[in-house]
Amino acid sequence: MKRKGIILAGGTGSRLWPITMGVSKQLLPVYDKPMIYFPLSTLMLGGIREIAIITTPDDQPQFRRLLGDGSQWGLSFEWIIQPSPDGLAQAYVLAEDFLAGAPSAMVLGDNIFFGHGLPEMLATADARDQGGSVFGYHVADPERYGVVAFDAQGRVSAIVEKPQHPPSSFAVTGLYYLDGRAPALARGIKPSPRGELEIVDLLEVYRAEGSLQVERMGRGFAWLDTGTHASLLDAGNFVRTLEERQGLQVGSPDEIAFRQGWIDAAALETRARLFGKTAYGRYLGAVAHE
Ligand code: G1P
Repeated sequence: MKRKGIILAGGTGSRLWPITMGVSKQLLPVYDKPMIYFPLSTLMLGGIREIAIITTPDDQPQFRRLLGDGSQWGLSFEWIIQPSPDGLAQAYVLAEDFLAGAPSAMVLGDNIFFGHGLPEMLATADARDQGGSVFGYHVADPERYGVVAFDAQGRVSAIVEKPQHPPSSFAVTGLYYLDGRAPALARGIKPSPRGELEIVDLLEVYRAEGSLQVERMGRGFAWLDTGTHASLLDAGNFVRTLEERQGLQVGSPDEIAFRQGWIDAAALETRARLFGKTAYGRYLGAVAHE
């Protein structure tokens, strides 16, 4: 079965208050694009075209206005409401009908990935249709994330959420490739002491049965954080630096859809016209004429 995508864009964004009191975190700008363009681009680079977008009830209309039905990119979107933020693993329960037994790639709506070789790494994870794959990334501050513990043989022995004493420097990024059992397994886990269905508890089910792969994203990758005001600004500066230096766009669903062959040059030109005289519009026009 073809893998389907999930973008989890719910949550209160309380760590970025007051900014996110009026607008969803995943709609905030990361330099020149709305944040959700970046995780969407990641799924698209993984070849995924059927995508459920999970939002709070209040925020859904704005996401729909921004993203439409996905047809402009050769995608199809399903819109799902998360009534209250009851944990990342709850996304699988909410998306159960959408997935209909298919394997999934879930990305958190505030996670930005960049790196040469990303499509190949995602293809490797996609090729595994039993079990799951997560992506470990070396960070300076693992205590802020889910962290991978390794045993003496280098196998994953546990994944722990925001540990005070991190067992390694490898954070589990917010991108999860799981097989078709994920919704049923998510139903089976118990809410944590803070009352949430924790993603690490779901991953633990896979780890315990020996079917969880941890792919290490090496030094050539950037996994950017948007969890604090400073890291959000840093992420924007990173994108700006790359785009200005290379003259290439980062996180453009329009360009990716065209390069994947999901839309033709005429459709890309229509998009370029929509963006008119902006740098983004001119860029898309140039790509369409290559
Ligand atoms: C969540 C997960 C954590 C993961 C992180 C990645 O944390 O619970 O395991 O490392 O996303 O972005 P949150 O950012 O919701 O605190």
